[in-house]
Amino acid sequence: MLSNVVASQAVHEAYGGVVPELAARAHQQHIIPVVHGAFQRAKVSKKAIDAVAFTRGPGLISALLVGTSFAKSLALALGVPLIGVNHMRAHILAHFIADANPAPPAFPFLALTVSGGHTQIILVEDYFRMTVLGETLDDAAGEAFDKIAKVLCLPYPGGPQIDRLARSGDPLAFAFPRPKVEGLNFSFSGLKTAVRYFLQERLRRNPDFIDQRINDLAASVQYTIVEILLEKIGLATARHGVKRVALAGGVSANAALRQGLRDRALRNGWEVYIPKLQYTTDNAAMIAMAGGLKLREHLLSPLDTAASARVRL
Ligand code: KG4
Ligand code: ZN
Repeated sequence: MLSNVVASQAVHEAYGGVVPELAARAHQQHIIPVVHGAFQRAKVSKKAIDAVAFTRGPGLISALLVGTSFAKSLALALGVPLIGVNHMRAHILAHFIADANPAPPAFPFLALTVSGGHTQIILVEDYFRMTVLGETLDDAAGEAFDKIAKVLCLPYPGGPQIDRLARSGDPLAFAFPRPKVEGLNFSFSGLKTAVRYFLQERLRRNPDFIDQRINDLAASVQYTIVEILLEKIGLATARHGVKRVALAGGVSANAALRQGLRDRALRNGWEVYIPKLQYTTDNAAMIAMAGGLKLREHLLSPLDTAASARVRL
């Protein structure tokens, strides 16, 4: 990994969420400086690259279109192959970046992919053979963090804020209901509603409730989300007889989830793979890793490839 440049979009903080039009414009503004910066930092000339990989989906279509068009132009101009990559697969394949883990996971393994848009348990049999065993029926885990943070009057994105505040809070201060969902699927929208009603009730009696108990609230919400995730991954290991578990996606930056998974691994004899922080939230290195693996197998994309907001795994 020679360079991994990320342009974060502060513009979304002002609106408490991602505004698609603004995200697309920010992509348009950032893409050339970011690519330029990546070449400079890597000390590699554009002529030296073998292929251009890009995120085809799933994601926000207006932002995907910017990347897709740019990648096509770059590949065409340099005369190198173009490789479309699935964003969720790339989160998992980030585990194979040379410095992501002391050693990459052996196949088969289970991936718990938790991001702002997805929550999935995936059976990974090799680089390209991946099966979704379970997924969220409504909100994603990251979305739950973000939406509940908003109810707690915290800035966007709420996941990292809750993580930070929870460090000095009591995870058992408040008990929130856990959804009853069959099998390996998840549901998070009920938790958001439960927290909202709980707060309305408390705020009626004490208007300063959130301010006074923000750390305990953050810790209790985080504990509930993490327990839901860990319970299902436990069920998946038992059902499928696979004891290797890899975390992926933005929410895997969460300290309680990382520690909780390590603790359960110790108790249950699992091998766990928890990527370095820089490879958990969205990054370009994971797209390059997935692209590199596809290039080796000549899995290239034609120039008429189109971005897709809802492409399946
Ligand atoms: O993978 P990602 O960077 O983008 C998507 O593909 O969605 O994930 C972003 C999500 C956001 O919902 C954000 O709040 C959450 O990951 N997130 C966290 C933490 N860092 C990022 N959630 C909990 N704790 C964190 N430390
Ligand atoms: Zn992502």
